[in-house]
Amino acid sequence: MIFLVILQGAAVVLFCGWYVQLSPCGSAPPNGKVHVLLLSSWRSGSSFVGQVFSQHPSVFYLMEPGWHVWTKLQKPGARVLRMAVRDLFRSVFQCDFSVMDAYLPENHQVSSLFMWSHSRALCSPPACPLTPRGQFSNQTQCFKTCSTTGLSEVEEACSTYSHVVLKEVRFFELESLFPLLQDPTLDIRIIHLVRDPRAVVRSKEESAKAFMSDNAIVLEQRSIPAPEVQYQVMKEICQSHVRINERAVLKPPPFLKGRYKMVRYEDVARNPLEEITAMYEFVGLEATSQLEEWIYRVTHGKGKGSKKEAFEITSRNAADVSQAWRTVLPHSKVKRIQEVCQEAMALLGYRTVHSEKEQKKLDIDLLMPQEPYQFSWLPDETERPSNG
Ligand SMILES: *[C@@H]1O[C@H](CO)[C@@H](O)[C@H](O)[C@H]1NC(C)=O
Repeated sequence: MIFLVILQGAAVVLFCGWYVQLSPCGSAPPNGKVHVLLLSSWRSGSSFVGQVFSQHPSVFYLMEPGWHVWTKLQKPGARVLRMAVRDLFRSVFQCDFSVMDAYLPENHQVSSLFMWSHSRALCSPPACPLTPRGQFSNQTQCFKTCSTTGLSEVEEACSTYSHVVLKEVRFFELESLFPLLQDPTLDIRIIHLVRDPRAVVRSKEESAKAFMSDNAIVLEQRSIPAPEVQYQVMKEICQSHVRINERAVLKPPPFLKGRYKMVRYEDVARNPLEEITAMYEFVGLEATSQLEEWIYRVTHGKGKGSKKEAFEITSRNAADVSQAWRTVLPHSKVKRIQEVCQEAMALLGYRTVHSEKEQKKLDIDLLMPQEPYQFSWLPDETERPSNG
């Protein structure tokens, strides 16, 4: 009898394993939509990469929906809030904005959504008549013209796109996302965008005040001496990069296969077209020649050092900007960052510097070749063709 029970148990396990293989986690949801999570951190180039998706005619894009959760429920700290953020993402991926009710003021409209005018889809029909689909949107004009759109129009717009892309900086692990990866109505792709922590610190210093409440949540509201905060926040962020990358790369669960791609911002800055094309391909989008021209234009712009708002996309020469920390940051600070981010820097391929001289000598390349560090699975060949 016991033997039979064991045998039956084994049969179930075997059958399930076989079943999982037959219907790979890659089986597409009925409506064929792809749901992209652009998972990054503050000042890591995610606004720019987000725009690269937002401007694509097949993409419904939204910037940091998790901001609403963090802003409304500041007290608990990142650990407690992550499930609420996760559940918000599930709804928004499914174009259900009723979940926003919990976080928005009464009588809300599209302008209540964080950074809504950065979403080209919210400046285009059916959300707003301003920007014909297939054209590039202008945030300033959109901000003025499209602000009274209601959330039902937002939902309607969302449902007309093949790709929903959400950028977020408020995930510090992958485990909370596992239910979304296993949800048969979702086809999730995760692009994990990382950046040299020394460049991140320099960039955050430009607008330190903007990060105060986020920092407190990252640090679980612990009281930490002010000069120490930036290092402790950076430590959390660096550890999260290691945690996320290792979870996806070393012994990933089967439902993560084909769904994770790590991208270093520095590689995007050096080879924008190549890296962006690879990201499009990973999620099943095609680059148009119009998009390629736009990418060239925004990555080769002028105006280095101009004062920019914390969340604005910059069009300065992207490759230049990624080196700026080397001349601006004092070496003592660089040493501290390298200490708290040692493991992440080794994993992601950022070389440490050991003297001020080495730091300031810009012809020493601190970016290690990407091969062993960048890791992704491409989706199965059998998956549906892209909707360019
Ligand atoms: C966007 O529109 C504003 C106002 O009409 C204009 O001043 C600005 O140059 C435009 N920006 C771009 C990038 O075209």
